[in-house]
Amino acid sequence: MRFDILTLFPAMVNACLSESIPRIAAERGAAEYRVTNFRDYATGVHQSVDDRPYGGGPGMVLKCEPLFKAIRDVQGQGPQAHLVLLTPQGRVFNQAVARELAHKPRLLMLCGRYEGFDERIRQGFAWDEISIGDFVLSGGELAALVIVDAVVRLLPGVLGDDASTLEESFGPAFEGRRLEYPQYTRPPEFEGMKVPDVLLSGHHAEIAKWRHEQALKRTQQRRPDLLQP
Ligand code: ADE
Repeated sequence: MRFDILTLFPAMVNACLSESIPRIAAERGAAEYRVTNFRDYATGVHQSVDDRPYGGGPGMVLKCEPLFKAIRDVQGQGPQAHLVLLTPQGRVFNQAVARELAHKPRLLMLCGRYEGFDERIRQGFAWDEISIGDFVLSGGELAALVIVDAVVRLLPGVLGDDASTLEESFGPAFEGRRLEYPQYTRPPEFEGMKVPDVLLSGHHAEIAKWRHEQALKRTQQRRPDLLQP
């Protein structure tokens, strides 16, 4: 799967893509990243990409010309990309959206900065506008990276063990409606805190039953909204 990320801060984006699971996804050939600085498409000595808003008001607005050029140029560089605009005004990202995006051959993600975009950038393309939650970031970069991370770990061959994405919180095993059960590793006792006996029993059916109950209990306590039909 190919990801194109358009940003004014390529170093920030590349720093995260070159670590951990996003890096492994690229090494295993499941993901390919191209990070483009859209300032490269701006003209004039200052290569400015923003300007003051018509009608006044605080902050600066991203301009049409460099962004239309950048988006069209990058879109033309490969198979038709699904266009993602990172904005707090978008539909809210969750595991179901991650699974949906993981089926696309290519994503082109535009990260805004400043007060926002010229509205015509919204109008000019068929965007899937996505927010990662009801808070305002200083720009779309961290949102784009959240999406890349959540998507690449779903791609075949990336985690090597499909069971780990099946069982975790919001994974398909729980239809996105259960939090994960508690996990333990050695030692069996640490500072007086013991691993539940059932997990040491080797009794697979009992362990599965215990985990199912714990997941349900945890969900009831912490996220009862997930249990609503
Ligand atoms: N840009 C600024 N805030 C954002 C958010 N919450 N989600 C996506 N993009 C954003």
